[in-house]
Amino acid sequence: MKFLKQKLDTLKKNGLLRNLSVHAHTIDFSSNDYLGFSRSVAFGKAFSKELNAEKIAGSTGSRLLTGNTLEIEALEEKIARFHQAESALIFPSGYQANVGFLSSIAGRGDTVIRDEFCHASIIDGLRLGFANTLKFTHNNYTDLDAKLSKASGEKFVIVEGLYSMDGDIPDLQMVANLCKKHEAHLIVDEAHTGGLYGNRGEGMVVEQGLESQVFARIMTYGKAFAYQGGAIIGSEELRQYLINKSRAFIYSTGINYSQILGLSLAYDFVEKAEEERYQLKENIRYFRQAIQGKPSAWIDSHSQIQGVRIPGNSAVMEKSVELKNAGILALPIRNPTVAEGEERIRICLHAYNTKSEMDGLIKIVGR
Ligand SMILES: Cc1ncc(COP(=O)(O)O)c(C=O)c1O
Repeated sequence: MKFLKQKLDTLKKNGLLRNLSVHAHTIDFSSNDYLGFSRSVAFGKAFSKELNAEKIAGSTGSRLLTGNTLEIEALEEKIARFHQAESALIFPSGYQANVGFLSSIAGRGDTVIRDEFCHASIIDGLRLGFANTLKFTHNNYTDLDAKLSKASGEKFVIVEGLYSMDGDIPDLQMVANLCKKHEAHLIVDEAHTGGLYGNRGEGMVVEQGLESQVFARIMTYGKAFAYQGGAIIGSEELRQYLINKSRAFIYSTGINYSQILGLSLAYDFVEKAEEERYQLKENIRYFRQAIQGKPSAWIDSHSQIQGVRIPGNSAVMEKSVELKNAGILALPIRNPTVAEGEERIRICLHAYNTKSEMDGLIKIVGR
């Protein structure tokens, strides 16, 4: 079709055409499998041992119709307890959790203020709702204060526990204080902190003891939890509200038994992952030490997400091909995903990366 071909050609001309690739047998500095459970044979064995042939098929409907089960309710209670909250409501993905939550929580006349670097699922959720939305300059709390002063109706602030492009962590206590000052509700997306922070992987909100100051948390299960899905964590009233008002919850089939089982096991594995969390911290420390004195433009991050700026879409693409040829997977982030000049090789560190893998990567990107 002519119109599609024209649009695809334009993307190609601008160096922005996306393609699906299979990345097998590469040294992984790209996946979100931070703790390594998606490659864990122990996880796979536990999963297959528990599978019940009679319960493997679909859930049969929306949870408000026939898709609700005792197992999913028990899992939600387990999730709520784990994160030291009153309730949890599961969605089939983190994206759907954000869309289902944010499109319904604020209405006409209300105001939602988000950090400018928030994830696409947050932006899309807000687009589907009717509230006024504002964004504040990344981690700039003077700007947030000013925006909150102008906000009307019920007020909400959304930040992430850790930002996925720069690997930086916001000052959550400061954001919570501003929310208190302006009587706003604080929402924290824990996609990149769930499973990693807190003694048992409960996330950044628990790590910082802010549970009572946070209105809702978004937990996603495709990263450190090495599974699939998302949940909104908060009060019992919030759960009841979403069951009644979240269209993405009401009009979509509930997750099936194998997903419930996988998620429950993911929680068991994450809870016991002290060694993996320790190893990841060690790898972050090693990596930061190893890049000291290397002239490249490293991003200033102390988390599992690292990166090196290589300005220009074609320059960053070339570097990622060089890495690929060396058997290393570390993907380029191009403009417009990041601002012009901020193009970079994004590096995700994992508990399972070895020192020699990190040295090999640094040798290529650090010159
Ligand atoms: C901050 C943030 N929120 C939500 C999501 C969506 O989660 P999922 O991949 O489970 O749909 C992501 C995924 O990258 C994310 O980074």
